[in-house]
Amino acid sequence: MHTLENKTTCTIAAPISGDKILTGDRATGPLHIGHYVGSLQQRVILQDKYQQTILVADMQGLTDNGYHPEKVSSNILNVVADYLCVGIDPAKTTICLQSSIPALAELTMYYANLVSVARLQRNPTVKSEIANKSFGKSIPAGFLTYPISQAADITAFNGTLIPVGEDQLPLLEQTNEIVRKINAIAGEEILVECRALLSKVPRLPGADGKNKMSKSMSNSLLLSASEQDIKRVVKSMYTDPKHLNINDPGQIEGNVVFTYLDAFHSDSKYIETLKRQYQEGGLGDGHTKKILEECLQDFLRPIRLRREMLMNDKAQLLSILKEGTERSQDEANQVLRRVKNAFGLNLF
Ligand code: TRP
Repeated sequence: MHTLENKTTCTIAAPISGDKILTGDRATGPLHIGHYVGSLQQRVILQDKYQQTILVADMQGLTDNGYHPEKVSSNILNVVADYLCVGIDPAKTTICLQSSIPALAELTMYYANLVSVARLQRNPTVKSEIANKSFGKSIPAGFLTYPISQAADITAFNGTLIPVGEDQLPLLEQTNEIVRKINAIAGEEILVECRALLSKVPRLPGADGKNKMSKSMSNSLLLSASEQDIKRVVKSMYTDPKHLNINDPGQIEGNVVFTYLDAFHSDSKYIETLKRQYQEGGLGDGHTKKILEECLQDFLRPIRLRREMLMNDKAQLLSILKEGTERSQDEANQVLRRVKNAFGLNLF
């Protein structure tokens, strides 16, 4: 879907000293192993060396769930638990709640004056999301404008490096356009441009091989997946439909079992040997699936246990979120003040 066109317009870069990491997730469902591979994994590493803020994007979650707000409200603490169970440490990373930082909504309103409706409609991410959702002619204004709100998220925390999946690149490009416009109005650099940090495995396909893993589809494995869920999903996983007999040569490309083994198995040499064997013939899908299942069980077991413990203490999750949200107000308010200043709105 998103091709080179986006890659060339948005700088994709390795972290450099002084980078401020900012990222977020829509709170519309618990996170899955695709989020882990695409972004969470990197955040756990980045928090040791960089200042990092993570937003639970509940307002953005509402942009296509305005009439089903419980889908968002019921998932806020789920997402916080997902962060913590994979190793995001609230002592190193600020975890905050988008709807409780008023400066974000205010910035969105200021930026909105500099973005045309046509530009929003052209945004490839928004375009493809609109095509996949059944809005018909009633596209919520909030949905069409969520890239502006995301620009507010990023700039309010002076985010310079944004760990995201490839699908988010057009949103970062649109953020940088807004940054340049605001800086031009201000006559000085009051906002900083951001770069994307893409994972080596930017997108894990769904177990069915057709779609990206989705919070709303049954082709994904949540971080909270039970032993049975893992069994079931691996068993039904898409492989090579032409690989009917064990001795037939099999195909690796598009074979989800191998894609997942690449993403999760620690011994890449061993996986290369398996691949060769599979391509030559003589290796059955039952066998490769068994290896994958074991690997995913080992990977998810400790995560699931930690997550269960965390979910048993909601008060603690809430206080972590509240503390992070309070800590982040100041920075966002300072950015807001600079932006209002740029528009000459600084009487008091
Ligand atoms: N759009 C992101 C998603 O779909 C969520 C998000 C909201 C975000 N604000 C952000 C991502 C700021 C990066 C930076 O999950």
